[in-house]
Amino acid sequence: MKVAVLTSGGDAPGMNAVIRSFVRRCLWEKHEVFGISHGYQGLLNREIRQLESRDVGMIINQGGTFLGTARCEEFYSEEGRQKAANILNEMGIEALCVIGGDGSFRGLLALSEIYHGQVVGIPGTIDNDIPGTEYTIGFDTAVGTAVWAIDKIRDTALSHGRIFFVEVMGRKSGQIALSTALSCGAEDVLIPEEKTDMEVFIRRLEEGRRKGKRFGIVVVAEGDEAGGAFKIAEEVKQRTGLPIRVSVLGHIQRGGNPSAYDRVWGSRMGDAAVRFLKNHMTRVFTAMKGGQIVPAYLAEAVSGVRTVDPEMVQLVRISGA
Ligand code: F6P
Repeated sequence: MKVAVLTSGGDAPGMNAVIRSFVRRCLWEKHEVFGISHGYQGLLNREIRQLESRDVGMIINQGGTFLGTARCEEFYSEEGRQKAANILNEMGIEALCVIGGDGSFRGLLALSEIYHGQVVGIPGTIDNDIPGTEYTIGFDTAVGTAVWAIDKIRDTALSHGRIFFVEVMGRKSGQIALSTALSCGAEDVLIPEEKTDMEVFIRRLEEGRRKGKRFGIVVVAEGDEAGGAFKIAEEVKQRTGLPIRVSVLGHIQRGGNPSAYDRVWGSRMGDAAVRFLKNHMTRVFTAMKGGQIVPAYLAEAVSGVRTVDPEMVQLVRISGA
């Protein structure tokens, strides 16, 4: 078989482990494998090259994606996707694997309407927000990075007796914020999935101070409906006069060496994708369910945002009180 692979959307640590294992399993199956640079944009620009085993050496420990990635406007249009399908067909590529988040999967599903080869997705995004899978590659590393940063912020929060509002990534999802808050022993967490009641939130903060809390950490997801960390912090400051500071972690969460967890599951998902293709599956992705990798329909992955566990939100508040 002739098989191609690309990474799309925001990069995520562990994507290289996925590519490496996908390519090596393909070669083991005696497939010809092609790497497409810079996501769907690179496909449209014909940035396609054949990959051999040595091409994916020395990358398992590296963050980012050695293929490069992009968010591609042109691929949103039917003409763009038709052009992509024509290129794949002309090259005789019989299967395409896309490593990315829900937007990339949406593009892949739309492409599969006109491209007659098999398509398979591998969830790669720090957000861990894809329905139908308990895990997306990159999440563990990103949370680890946020926790590492907040452990440092906590030192200065304690020294000065301040409350820090720390903004983490997650435009539509509070998964990173929630796991980070729980790992850091934060007092509270503000996420897009839950409407922030400012009265209740402020009361909780003030009560903490009254009970003798000398400092505080509040983790805010960038997509929280009450606004980013700066906006919320300003309002709380004005209403309470508390000594508040803001720190936005930003893209630091997307980079760095992947954790062992992301390397293990990245490798396993890369391998599983080739096995799914061998079993003639299409329009599926490698989902983690109950700790196993199983095929799930791409249609499920694009059906919204994975819900957060309300018990976990409550746990942050109970244990951070
Ligand atoms: O989807 C991953 C993510 O890091 C989101 O958490 C964040 O909102 C977005 O990408 C940022 O995208 P960009 O790097 O294109 O600004």
